[in-house]
Parts: sequence; C-alpha cells; structure tokens
Amino acid sequence: MNYQGKNIFITGGSEGIGKAIAKLLTTKGANTFIFSRNPKKITKALKEIRKNKISKDQICEGISLDVTKLNIVKTKFNTLCKKYGNIDILINTAGFAAPGYFEKIPPEAFHDMMEVNYFGIVNTITAAFPFFVKNNGGHIVNTSSLSGFLPVFGYSGYTASKYAVIGFSEVLKSEFKRHNIKVSVLCPPDTDTPGFKKENKTKPAETLEISKGAKLMTPAQVAESFEKAFSKNKFMIIPGLEGKLAYRVKRFCPGLLNFIFNMSIKKVQKKQRK
Ligand SMILES: NC(=O)c1ccc[n+]([C@@H]2O[C@H](COP(=O)([O-])OP(=O)(O)OC[C@H]3O[C@@H](n4cnc5c(N)ncnc54)[C@H](OP(=O)(O)O)[C@@H]3O)[C@@H](O)[C@H]2O)c1
Repeated sequence: MNYQGKNIFITGGSEGIGKAIAKLLTTKGANTFIFSRNPKKITKALKEIRKNKISKDQICEGISLDVTKLNIVKTKFNTLCKKYGNIDILINTAGFAAPGYFEKIPPEAFHDMMEVNYFGIVNTITAAFPFFVKNNGGHIVNTSSLSGFLPVFGYSGYTASKYAVIGFSEVLKSEFKRHNIKVSVLCPPDTDTPGFKKENKTKPAETLEISKGAKLMTPAQVAESFEKAFSKNKFMIIPGLEGKLAYRVKRFCPGLLNFIFNMSIKKVQKKQRK
C-alpha cells in the first residue's frame, strides 16, 4: 500500500499500540495525526514520531481531545480537514481495560469502558464520515481485542465493550461498501504497553493464570503485523499466532476453549481454597 501523502488519523496515538502504528506509518511516508487527552504525552510522542519522517513535507501533528466528547471531536476534525485536506484512514486505538471480579469493578467503570472503547469509536466515525464521503472513500480501523471474541474471566466490562466494537464494525463493513469506505478490526493480544501495565494491577489471579502462557507482544510487533494485514485489506486483523489460533478454536470448537480456560480458573481457585 502506498501511504505517501495519505492523511492518517490515529486516536490513542500518544502511547502504546497507537503510537507504534503512528511511528510505523510515518516511516512509510504518511501524514500522521495523533489524538489523545494529555498534551504532555502528545508532545513527547510527537518527538518520537517525527524522527521517523522520510520527507520534510510530511505532516505529523498531535491534537488533544477526549474521544467521548462528540462535539469536540467534530470541531477538531473539521478544523484539521479544512487545513490539511481530508482523512484517508482513521485508526481508532484509544481505549482501556478495568479488569476485576464483577462485584469489585465500580459500576461507573462499566459505563466508562463503553464510553471510551465503543462510543469513542462511534464519535470519531460520526465526525469523519462526511469527509470520507467527500473523498469518495477511505478506510476505518477499530481496535477491539482478543477479548472482543473470547470470554476471558475478569473482563466482564471490557469484554462487553470490545464485543460491541466487533459487532458494530461488522455492520459498518457491510453498510459502508456503498460509500467505498473499508472497515477493519484490530484484535491485539496481550501487548506490553502503559495501559497493559496499569490493568495488570487489578487483574484477578484467574485472569493472570489464563494469560500466563501467552506470548506478550511489543507494540512495534503489533504495528508491523497490523500493517501487513491492513495493506491486504483484511477485515479481522489478529496479530500473533496464538490469537489467530484462539479465533479459530472459538469459532469451530468453543467447548475446547472453555475447557482450557476452566482448567486455569480451577487451578487458581483450588490454591485459594487451601
Ligand atoms: N495492550 C494490550 O494488551 C491490549 C490488548 C488488546 C487490546 N488492546 C486495545 O488496544 C488499544 C490500545 O491499547 P494500549 O495498551 O496501547 O493502551 P495505552 O498504552 O493505555 O494507550 C492508550 C492511548 O489512548 C489514549 N486515550 C485513552 N482514553 C482516551 C480518551 N478518552 N480520549 C482520547 N484518547 C484516549 C491515551 O492517552 P491519554 O490517556 O492521554 O488520553 C493513550 O494515548 C486499546 O483500545 C486497548 O483496549 C490492548
């Protein structure tokens, strides 16, 4: 895929997976625009991203916004499109997980995860849609997770928000064909990011046990794997072999997956009872 001169909007681009994608696409000549809340993180990330520019004409900008605020997202996207032309690719990575036993997760955290992980995506697509139509097409990537199709212990709130992302994206993929807008879903496995470090602090022992054997990917590996699949116009983008395997097992033999998860859960609970 030729990214040169393409305007790519990346929410959550100041850290973790979003930042790694921004860096990679900048090395391929794209104009990258990152969006997140904390201006300090944006400034720091932009320094790193700009080092990857391959031409002095390339644009790398950072904009502070909260994806849950639709009117602000609309205003900022409109301003940028007036100045820089259009949006070619929108990559939604802003998101977070608050794991825990259901009864230990504060009720408001369930709402917050839906607000950021699901409605945040609805908001940016709402704001970007008129520009895609004007541009006669584009490509949208929504970040879900392996928890977007696997029922992992300890992720009741997060999983609900990430299942929503996949269902929403499947419908948009079908609807947006008539506008020549492609849609993909990125489902990363456990990835070593600031967000992952934070969520590890509240993961129940059962959740930690389930993910113990899985390979922890780096954000750069996820970005590479993402780009490879994205450039082939894949809908479901699952970095790493284990994730791809889990996707197939869930589809064709869900009982086996539940059996494997239950073994880890029982192992921990047996220890806790002793
Ligand atoms: N890391 C993993 O193991 C993993 C696995 C599967 C899926 N994922 C998904 O992949 C995505 C990226 O995860 P990550 O681990 O890279 O996260 P991260 O390291 O915590 O980075 C999250 C980014 O999103 C921004 N952000 C958070 N809330 C926002 C909001 N309301 N509005 C705008 N920006 C916001 C953050 O900046 P500010 O805080 O400054 O806003 C930051 O730039 C998430 O959707 C996550 O659920 C991650």
